[in-house]
Amino acid sequence: MSRVIVTGRVPEEAVRRLEAEHDVDAWTGRDPMGREELLQRVAGVDAVLSLLTERIDEELLEAAGPQLKVVANAAVGYDNVDVPACAARGVVATNTPGVLTAATADLALSLILMTTRRLGEGERIIRSGQPWKWGMMFLLGSGLQGKTLGVVGMGGIGQATARRARAFGMDVVYHSRSEIDPQTAEELEARRLGLDELLASADVVSLHCPYGPETQHLMGAEQFAAMKPSAYLVNTARGPVVDEQALVAALEEGQIAGAGLDVYEHEPEVHPGLLERDDVVLLPHLGSATLETRTAMATLAAENVLAVLRGEQPPTPIRQR
Ligand code: GLV
Repeated sequence: MSRVIVTGRVPEEAVRRLEAEHDVDAWTGRDPMGREELLQRVAGVDAVLSLLTERIDEELLEAAGPQLKVVANAAVGYDNVDVPACAARGVVATNTPGVLTAATADLALSLILMTTRRLGEGERIIRSGQPWKWGMMFLLGSGLQGKTLGVVGMGGIGQATARRARAFGMDVVYHSRSEIDPQTAEELEARRLGLDELLASADVVSLHCPYGPETQHLMGAEQFAAMKPSAYLVNTARGPVVDEQALVAALEEGQIAGAGLDVYEHEPEVHPGLLERDDVVLLPHLGSATLETRTAMATLAAENVLAVLRGEQPPTPIRQR
């Protein structure tokens, strides 16, 4: 039996699978385990099943000790994990790609609809108790039909978002490290563009790239200035891909029409300049938040742990490019 720590609350099924083979310390608190607590409890474990709220860095790996074999992050994004530091210690690092693609794309589409149709604003009017009535010119948004979606980061989630947008009558352009496979490009009638060209032509820019040094503030003052004044920004990727201060300035100056955000540069803090704006929709990082998806993510992370502890290849190791 090996020792496994699960650093935050996850669906029961994942814990049960781990408990069938190992000694499991699963955190059940409503809030994530504090850093100090984590550094203490991680000592001597063979496996860490981590959530994106935990920083898995040199300090934590050191606190765990040399017997640590695997860090299984229950998320597709792994910017919270120092993967080279894991590799240097012979610790396998894994993530959970694929299982959250549909849920996250659904949420991106929700934000596209919420921003372009001003749904948050409408709901706030009703809840405020202020009088309202139907009016031909009341709370007009903009339609998606015939508009262009610009997908930045055309991996699985970007493609799934593009597919949904096509069903709403949008055209698709994308910016990505590599060309997508020809069959998908044909199905989506999607053209690959440079970022500047994409920003100049998109009516909605949706971010789906991983976060790292290359994508830090990918969307800054220059990029907002390059967008159409009628265009919207949607971010379901990671907060620091967007320079929030520059976003607030761009909104104030009318350089773009609005934004829909699920993630924040200094999460869970939200820039005060965003909080007061009606042309911004703000969600609390709900991209993969369905019971089905979170169960699939946690059980995939558990399968990664179990495989490594059995001396097998894990299903979804992180392959850094
Ligand atoms: C969620 O944000 C994830 O990366 O899985």
